[in-house]
Parts: sequence; C-alpha cells; structure tokens
Amino acid sequence: MNWIGIILPFIAVSLIGGCVGRPLLHSSPGPAEVADTHIRKPLQTIRPYNIAHRGSNGELPEETIAAYKRAVEEGADFIESDILASKDGVLICLHDLTLDNTTDVANHKQFANRKRSYQVQGLNITGWFVVDFTWEELKLLRVKQRFGFRDQQYNGKFSLITFEEFISVALHAKRVVGIYPEIKNPVFINQHVKWSDGKKFEDKFMETLKKYGYKGSYMSKEWLKQPIFIQSFAPTSLTYIANFTDLPKVLLIADPTTRTEDTNQSFFEITSNSYFNFIKKYVVGIGPWKDTILPSIDNHLSETGATDLVARAHAHGLQVHPYTFRNEYLFLNFNFNQDPYEEYDLWINKIKVDGLFTDFAGSLHNFQEWSSDKGN
Ligand SMILES: *[C@@H]1O[C@H](CO)[C@@H](O)[C@H](O)[C@H]1NC(C)=O
Ligand SMILES: *[C@@H]1O[C@H](CO)[C@@H](O)[C@H](O)[C@H]1NC(C)=O
Ligand SMILES: *[C@@H]1O[C@H](CO)[C@@H](O)[C@H](O)[C@H]1NC(C)=O
Ligand SMILES: *[C@@H]1O[C@H](CO)[C@@H](O)[C@H](O)[C@H]1NC(C)=O
Repeated sequence: MNWIGIILPFIAVSLIGGCVGRPLLHSSPGPAEVADTHIRKPLQTIRPYNIAHRGSNGELPEETIAAYKRAVEEGADFIESDILASKDGVLICLHDLTLDNTTDVANHKQFANRKRSYQVQGLNITGWFVVDFTWEELKLLRVKQRFGFRDQQYNGKFSLITFEEFISVALHAKRVVGIYPEIKNPVFINQHVKWSDGKKFEDKFMETLKKYGYKGSYMSKEWLKQPIFIQSFAPTSLTYIANFTDLPKVLLIADPTTRTEDTNQSFFEITSNSYFNFIKKYVVGIGPWKDTILPSIDNHLSETGATDLVARAHAHGLQVHPYTFRNEYLFLNFNFNQDPYEEYDLWINKIKVDGLFTDFAGSLHNFQEWSSDKGN
C-alpha cells in the first residue's frame, strides 16, 4: 500500500464530513481506526441508511442466511430482522408469530396436531405458533417465499435461523454492516415463553447483543465498529432496555388504526409533540409506516402531500426511518410511473428521511450510488 492509499481515506472523510445535516463522525480517525478502515470498509454515514428489510427478501425467502448475505453483497448498510422466541426460549429470526405463511410446517405430519388458536392483540388467530415448537423442531422446517408473485425457486432450500446466526452474518461481512433487530410481539412472547432464570424476553435479547460485543451510543467509536439500531412497536420494551443499554433505539409506528400492544396508546398519542418530548430521551428515531407520511388514495398519493410527521420528528432531534419500500408495481403509487427510483428520489431528496427499510437493498444502493455524483 503506497502513501496515497493511506492518505486518501482521510481526505475523503474530512471532505464529506463538513456538509451534511445528520450528526456525523466529527473527529479525524486515529491510528486504530485507520487500521480498521483498511481491514473493513466503515459504515457510510453521509447518506440515508439502506436498511435491508428481512434481508433481500424481494429476491430470496425472508430472514434466511441467504437473504442476509445477498443484502450484504448488494450494499445494505443494515440488515434487519424480527426476533421472536421458540417454546424453549431460543431467540430466532421470524416475522409472523405463526409458521404458516413462510415455512413448510403444513407438510410435516408430526406437527399436524400442533395447530392452536391464540388471542394476539385482541384478534383470535389460528395457526402453527412458533411458541409451541422447540428450536430442535423448528430446525426441521424449511422456509418459503411469502408472496406468490416473487421467485419461488428457493422454497424449501433454507432453514430458519437464530438471532445469533443473524448477527454472525453481519460480523463476518467484509465491510462494516450494521444490524437492525426488532423486539417483536414482546407482550405475547413474555406471556407464552418462560425462561428458567426468570428473565424476560427483553433481557434475553440484550444478553445476546452483549455476548457479541454490541455497545455504545449512536455514532460512538464502539457503535461505529458494530452499528446497531434496536427497534420495537412496544414503547415499554424500549424504555425498559434503556435502563441497561445506551445502544440507539427506534420506536416503530404502525398504521393509525393500530394501538400499541403494551401501553394501548393510539397513533395520535404516540406521534404528538408531547410524546416526542418524552420518548426522545429513550430513542434516536422513529420508524413509521410510510403511508403515515405520504398518504395515498386508490394508489395515488394524496393531493394534500406529506404530513408534518417528518418535520416534527426532526424538530425533536429524532431520525425518521420509514417502512417498507418495494419495487413491485402493486406497492408503487401510480405517481411514480412504475419507477422505484422516482419513489426513492422523492423520499430521499424531498422528504429527507434518514433511513429506508427496503425489500430490495440492491435497488436502493444503486439509486444512491448512481445519484450521488450529481449532488457533489
Ligand atoms: C378462535 O378461533 C377458533 C377457530 O376458528 C375457534 O375454535 C375458537 O373458539 C375461537 N376462540 C375465541 C376465543 O373466539
Ligand atoms: C397468512 O397470510 C394471510 C395473508 O396475508 C393472512 O390473512 C393470514 O392471517 C396469514 N395466516 C397466518 C396463520 O398467520
Ligand atoms: C428502570 O430501573 C429503575 C430502577 O431499577 C426502575 O424503577 C424503573 O421502573 C425502570 N424503568 C423501566 C422503564 O423499566
Ligand atoms: C385500549 O383503549 C381503547 C380506547 O380507550 C379501549 O376501547 C380498549 O378497550 C383498550 N384496550 C385494552 C386492551 O385495554
């Protein structure tokens, strides 16, 4: 490596560092970080985060090793996962509380009598619930694509994975890749899964992160080495873990008809200025459903334009990471002329969000790479 190779990253960092809104790495890197930089390319912090929602699940079955590795190859800044627990308390990556829609559980005769009905947030749901299976049993299942209009050729090829296996994908990536795990359905999990040491779901979640060395506040040296955002729809899970970690947290915000599962608060309560004043002591940002920012009617963006949610969140120093961006025509408002880049352009350059949950990390990465020269 010649001296130019050593000096260039310094110049790049200091040039880019001066001209952006979001809090950035302000100090010049010291010797330790330089060594690090040469081993693993650091997390980009100059543009909105590319958050690979359930991995590259637009291409591969969601929350599998393959989907996460693909997202890393495609340039994701963060890989995202929902964390649930098995009957015997193993933390696993799974979005639904039931196995029906994303695994082949229905084909396993030995589990035919395992179907149950549970009340989940006021709804009576029937299916094969993850909390009725041990991890040994869950390993027998194979994952399948959730949506019929996506590539079905990988169905049956991959297994479910643990929270720890998910973390390993990020830690073994050739560049620094962050994780974005969700404390999913904590009320239900704490009701139905018991750990022998009397600890609860949130404790087990934090023990796992600690085991793999995740620590530090947003943009701290430790955080930049192993970046992470912890997300949840349940405010009490976030305020609870805030008691023993300063890792950055994000409060997810669902559609306006859904109340919080733990505090039974309405959308209007948790997006009020007074609530932002309270929650900003615990979280660095919010993760709203994107229609709460840009409402649409009959798949056309509403004439009223964007709500004031982003402006008010930013005024409270909160980042905004909306979900979920998807390339397929049935998820794109007609206004975007079937072009997902037009959608990214609006959200990144006009609405100015700080991160985007996408099913197609590769498309968002290409958009950001191909449009970044124009701006500089
Ligand atoms: C929930 O649905 C199942 C299946 O339809 C039914 O057998 C059960 O009685 C229902 N439970 C409640 C509490 O409504
Ligand atoms: C499977 O997905 C369908 C469509 O989204 C949904 O209506 C159904 O409730 C899901 N089944 C289970 C058991 O979660
Ligand atoms: C944080 O810890 C304090 C002291 O143990 C406790 O009183 C408080 O309830 C905890 N906060 C949450 C949100 O659990
Ligand atoms: C949540 O709040 C709503 C509105 O006040 C109320 O109607 C509902 O019964 C509450 N749900 C629970 C589970 O307490």
